[in-house]
Amino acid sequence: MSYRAIEQYRFADSFRAATRIVTLPLPEPGPGEVLVRNAWCGINGIFDTQLARDAVGTIRMEPPFLTGVEAVGTVEAVGAGVTDLAVGDAVAATRFRGGYREANCGPAADFVPLPEASAAALALASSGVAAWLALTLTGAMQRGETVAISAAAGGLGHLAVQIAKLHECHVIAICGGARKAAFVEALGADRVIDYRSESIPEVLASEYHDRIDLALDTVGGEVFDAMVDNLANHGRLVISGWASDMVDDLPSPVTAPRIGHKLYYKGASVRAFMNALHTAHWPAARAALFERYAQGLLKPHVEVLGSGLDAVPAAVEALLAGQTMGKAVVRL
Ligand SMILES: NC(=O)c1ccc[n+]([C@@H]2O[C@H](COP(=O)([O-])OP(=O)(O)OC[C@H]3O[C@@H](n4cnc5c(N)ncnc54)[C@H](OP(=O)(O)O)[C@@H]3O)[C@@H](O)[C@H]2O)c1
Repeated sequence: MSYRAIEQYRFADSFRAATRIVTLPLPEPGPGEVLVRNAWCGINGIFDTQLARDAVGTIRMEPPFLTGVEAVGTVEAVGAGVTDLAVGDAVAATRFRGGYREANCGPAADFVPLPEASAAALALASSGVAAWLALTLTGAMQRGETVAISAAAGGLGHLAVQIAKLHECHVIAICGGARKAAFVEALGADRVIDYRSESIPEVLASEYHDRIDLALDTVGGEVFDAMVDNLANHGRLVISGWASDMVDDLPSPVTAPRIGHKLYYKGASVRAFMNALHTAHWPAARAALFERYAQGLLKPHVEVLGSGLDAVPAAVEALLAGQTMGKAVVRL
């Protein structure tokens, strides 16, 4: 018996060029381990591409290694001594190397029990947890605040919009294109800025001058600058990515006064969110998210980008091209 997985076997400019599919023997779970048959994997095209280019600051590994971050499936077999999980249980792997593989075998504690092995549940357990913690923990979001979110129609962004609305916040959702704008408006965003038809700096300066309490930014560049410029007193800008610097993986050089001068008199701050550093908070975040999901208050939107591991490179490319809305997934 065997299973297939995506291996990054070298560093290269693109995910497609850095990876290949490998066939591996299906392991038997040892004591304390479970064997999981995956149903869906989540696509993290920006992370995947940065990893292909050896540009992820927290990961220093020499290829070859299996890649992909998250997948959801069902337990197929359990090893001796496993009491928390049983055959047929829905579980997710949400850490690097758990994603682009048809099966996964490892310690039971490495898998997260979920109510269902669906793509929506996977979106909540991965992007949902990141969105929740970036806003509530790093961003210290308070009820009723004015919250700006970039890439608001994306996997992380569309859940962040909903989470901020559940906290009764006024949400400014920034995205590219009419289709995405209609999507985030339907999620409840109060002010949608489609940067293809409006200028982000102009809208923020005219409608939200010094009024943004919390900004969640995964794009960087001019979006970051416009957010910094319009932070309120005690405002917080949470850096959660920088998609716009993907071109060469280097921050674009800026000749400008240091932003300390803009932050100081407002008592404002710029913070960074790194989900992998908050594992202790993941269970509580998941509980909060799945409670709201069960109540129908949170609705993950998934975009299915094909079936089988062969579909993953094209899915990564679609995400990088900004063609996806909601959480991008591939059926396994
Ligand atoms: N810090 C953490 O721990 C953490 C955890 C999870 C994810 N993230 C980050 O969160 C971000 C969102 O991830 P996601 O998987 O949910 O992706 P996504 O938001 O579904 O897709 C990326 C979106 O970013 C926007 N974008 C703007 N400039 C871009 C560019 N130059 N290239 C590609 N996309 C660009 C596009 O939306 P528009 O068309 O609307 O511009 C695109 O649809 C990523 O940067 C990811 O690395 C960080």
